[in-house]
Amino acid sequence: MTKTALITGAASGLGYELSLLLAKDAYNLILIDVDAENLNKVKAEISQAYSCKIDVLVKDLSKPNVAIEIVEDLNDVVIDVLVNNAGFGLFGSFNNTDWDRELDMLYVHIITTTHLTKLLLEGMVQRGSGKILNISSLAAFQPGPLMSIYYASKSYLLSFSEAIANELRDTGVTVTVLCPGPTKTAFQEVVSENATDNKISFNMACPSEVAHYGYKAMQKGKTVAIPGLFNKFLATIHRFVTRKMAVKIIRNIQEMNRE
Ligand SMILES: NC(=O)c1ccc[n+]([C@@H]2O[C@H](COP(=O)([O-])OP(=O)(O)OC[C@H]3O[C@@H](n4cnc5c(N)ncnc54)[C@H](OP(=O)(O)O)[C@@H]3O)[C@@H](O)[C@H]2O)c1
Repeated sequence: MTKTALITGAASGLGYELSLLLAKDAYNLILIDVDAENLNKVKAEISQAYSCKIDVLVKDLSKPNVAIEIVEDLNDVVIDVLVNNAGFGLFGSFNNTDWDRELDMLYVHIITTTHLTKLLLEGMVQRGSGKILNISSLAAFQPGPLMSIYYASKSYLLSFSEAIANELRDTGVTVTVLCPGPTKTAFQEVVSENATDNKISFNMACPSEVAHYGYKAMQKGKTVAIPGLFNKFLATIHRFVTRKMAVKIIRNIQEMNRE
């Protein structure tokens, strides 16, 4: 029987690339994003290339209870793969940043992701099968001055994913958390207007390669997936320097990247 995958943030970047990989493997798709125009373009593009069934849901994942709305809109369609990918960054010192934008981020990265996971997990456990892929970040591994809420929210996603992956062992449901380093998507433009002047560009990954790495990890049921050797090293930086020093290094990188 054809399986169905639900992908949030599917209108661009990693969500788009992951949708392509799922379509290639003959999954039916439910694509969710706040950006209706790009979402419909993605639907048209994937429909041309693959014969899977594609539905789009235009949703703002920063709104309270949007996860309930999504599940109601599914009309009992069985979700075999859940990809919690939608997200965005915000650069600046916490005492200057915009609270409304930060609240949106906390909803998108934490509340809605957790709620949607809870709502769809029940059926997966009952059926004894399912795959969840949460998109966290390399930012999850240490605090990030000048992007404090972003780093902290991605830490939550890493911790939450590893914990439930452990709880769910032997249920047939796997949870994978993908932790990419800097990746060339629209995300970089959203974080900072000056991101096109990014000085540290040697570690900038290609979104299709990052998505492919995460997709393979999800299919294997691997829990934590960090694409790239240098990123794997950065994720363990706290083993080589004190936590205080790691925070300093991150601040320096942020300043060099965005100045
Ligand atoms: N690119 C990187 O360097 C990088 C590194 C590590 C982790 N990540 C993570 O990877 C994930 C995907 O990001 P990306 O790099 O592919 O960026 P992207 O190209 O900007 O894609 C993110 C998608 O999420 C959507 N989205 C944002 N807020 C939303 C909301 N409230 N409701 C519904 N959809 C919303 C965006 O729509 P709009 O564009 O209309 O807002 C966009 O289509 C994010 O969770 C990000 O934190 C990215």
